[in-house]
Order: sequence, then structure tokens, then C-alpha cells
Amino acid sequence: MSTPLPPLGAIPADIASLADYERRAAAHMPLASWTYVQEGAGDGLSFAANRTAFDRIGLLPRVLADLRGGSTQITLLGERHASPILLAPVAYQRIAHEEGELATMRAATAMDVGMIASTLSSVTLEEIAAARGQASQGLGLAPPPLWFQLYAQERREDTLALVRRAEAAGYGAIVLTVDASIKRSTFALPPGVEAANLRGIARPAQTAQPLGRILFGTSLTDAAPRWEDIAWLRGETRLPLLLKGILAPQDALLAIEHGVEGLVVSNHGGRVLDGMPAAIEMLPAIAQAVGGRVPLLIDGGVRRGTDVVKALALGASAVLIGRPQVHALAVAGMAGVAHALLMLRSELELAMAQLGCASVASITTDRVVFRS
Ligand SMILES: Cc1cc2nc3c(=O)[nH]c(=O)nc-3n(C[C@H](O)[C@H](O)[C@H](O)COP(=O)(O)O)c2cc1C
Repeated sequence: MSTPLPPLGAIPADIASLADYERRAAAHMPLASWTYVQEGAGDGLSFAANRTAFDRIGLLPRVLADLRGGSTQITLLGERHASPILLAPVAYQRIAHEEGELATMRAATAMDVGMIASTLSSVTLEEIAAARGQASQGLGLAPPPLWFQLYAQERREDTLALVRRAEAAGYGAIVLTVDASIKRSTFALPPGVEAANLRGIARPAQTAQPLGRILFGTSLTDAAPRWEDIAWLRGETRLPLLLKGILAPQDALLAIEHGVEGLVVSNHGGRVLDGMPAAIEMLPAIAQAVGGRVPLLIDGGVRRGTDVVKALALGASAVLIGRPQVHALAVAGMAGVAHALLMLRSELELAMAQLGCASVASITTDRVVFRS
């Protein structure tokens, strides 16, 4: 079945940035779902830091550069990406739109953007992979990179079953999220939305932990993944393994010692431990410690093409966007996500051209200045 591009009429005419989608999205979702998407942990300090940290970074253009043959293309873990922008794993996308992750996957395919599907997706990982195949065939485009975000389950055999399913469905990498094993949430999924990949798997350790309960001594802490589990997982799959949720340079080094092929520097959108620095604040120290041995991806607060160049200048290989995909999905489904990705890509090209950078590799640290 072919998947034609949706009519552009589905996109409200006054949307010209990702922030415009965010402003409109609340009206398209039940309040509880909207709150779940937007929330930051605690007092929202880390959530806010994700934006203010980007705003404190200035950009220093170089003029009269040769921009002929300019390109945003990169290669990441052996795969070509049209630009250094990927879709972050975001759970339960059917809370924003009935087609959920399928619409997001079709938009990613239409715009040639890599996607990381969540363990907690509201359709199965196989359905997402199939949507990529159908959309790429229907559009006559090559399928974009598709990776699987893994949450370790309480039983290793359940974790391994998810990995085997991702391998069988053609996913190109495993992104193990390590910063949200112990996360509190009071969000009750709306009727009809479920963790589709986890049917038949005992309640995983990272899901909702009500407030006001003792934590230590429960399976939530006792079964939380440890470094020894990384060594085990690395030995179990031939797919590249990335760890998502690294903020300390020491952990970046430990991850490399454990054979990990890539890192996602992230504070989980400010949703876990309030007080965490923004990922972009820790990026220079991590980039220095890692010294180019593995690619560094980064997320949290990326909303503009200028944010993308700031992250690349400070040592990132690529960025992920989280909430904006939900905002666009809620407002205009697949067309919205495709439009949001197009705007971000076009802002990135403009920023690169104005900085005097014809390639991603030429976005060097001397292009940024820090404001107090
Ligand atoms: C509603 C929502 C659900 C998320 N679900 C997951 C998830 O299932 N797995 C994961 O690793 N990260 C998850 N994240 C975190 C994102 O992958 C990403 O780190 C974060 O959203 C980036 O910040 P941004 O929203 O400011 O772009 C989620 C974030 C949001 C907002």
C-alpha cells in the first residue's frame, strides 16, 4: 500500500516554527496527556535549563565562505543520515494522534530523518518497521535509519526478547536508556493506549512509581540495570549499542570501556532528576573525555536550527528532538511531523550558510561564544 504525502492543507497556515506547534498542541490533547508530555521533574529546573543553556550560547559567523556543494549529510555508525537531526524515542505517541508512531515513522521517511522507536511505543516495533517499508516504497525513497530504544526489563530474557525482535525487524542499532530506570509518574494512560511491545511481559522496572512509597528494598531499585548488564548486553547482539542518558564524563568513559559504540548525552528532557544540568552544558567536557572515540548524540531543548549548530560546534555528531514531534503530531498528524522536520532542516541549512559552514564537519568550536 502506498503512503502519499498528506495534503498540505492539514497544516495551519500560521505555523512557522516548532514553538508554534507547541503553542497550538495543548488544544489538541486531553489535559492529562498534555501535562505528561510537557512535564519536568520536581520544580522543572532541569527542564528550563535545557532551553536557557542554548540561549546562553552565541554564534560567530565567518563571512565570504565557499558554500558551493553544501550539505547537511552525515554518516553515523555506518549509516547515512540526510541531516544530523533524529527523532528521539518518545513513548505512547497515540496519546497525541490515533496513528501515533506510524504517522511519525511515515513523516520521518518522507523527510529522510532517522527515528528511534521507544520500547514504550503505542504500536509494536514490528508495525513501525513495516510502516517505514511501506512509506519508503510508496514514496520511492530509501528508508531512513531506524533504531530501537531499549528499556531493560526486570528479567534478562524479556530484555533479550525485545532485542531479538528489533534485530528481526531490521532495526539498525540499540539505544539503551540508562537514566530513567527509577522514574516517578502518576500519568494513567488513556483508554486504548498501551505499551504495545510489552504485551505479556511482567511490569517493567522503569514504569510508574507512585509518590509516597518506599523505594529502597523494592524490585525497582534491586532490579535496576547495572554496568554488568551493559557488558552482558554488548555480548548478546551484533547491532551497535548506544547508551542514552549520559551526563558525567566518567560514565562516558565507563561506557566506552564496556564496548558501547555511541552515547546520547541527555537529561531525559528534564523529566527524571531535577537539578541535572542541561546536556549541552556537559557536552564540552564529555567530548573532551571521549576524544572522538564514539559519536555523541545530544538532546534536550533543541528547537531551532541554530540549536543544532550550537550542539555540533560543541562536539555533538547529531541531535535528537523529543517533545516537538508530539506537538506536531497532535496538531496535524503525519503532515505536521513532516512539516516540523522540514522547518528544522531548513533552519539548520540557513544557520550553516550564515555561519559560513558548507558541511557538518566544518561546524567547529570556534563558531560559538558563551554569554554570561
Ligand atoms: C512524552 C515523552 C516520552 C518520552 N519517552 C521516552 C522513552 O520512552 N524512552 C526514552 O529513552 N526517552 C523518552 N523520552 C525522552 C526523550 O527521548 C528525550 O530525551 C527528551 O524528550 C529530549 O528533550 P526535548 O523534549 O526537550 O527535545 C520521552 C520524552 C517525552 C517528552
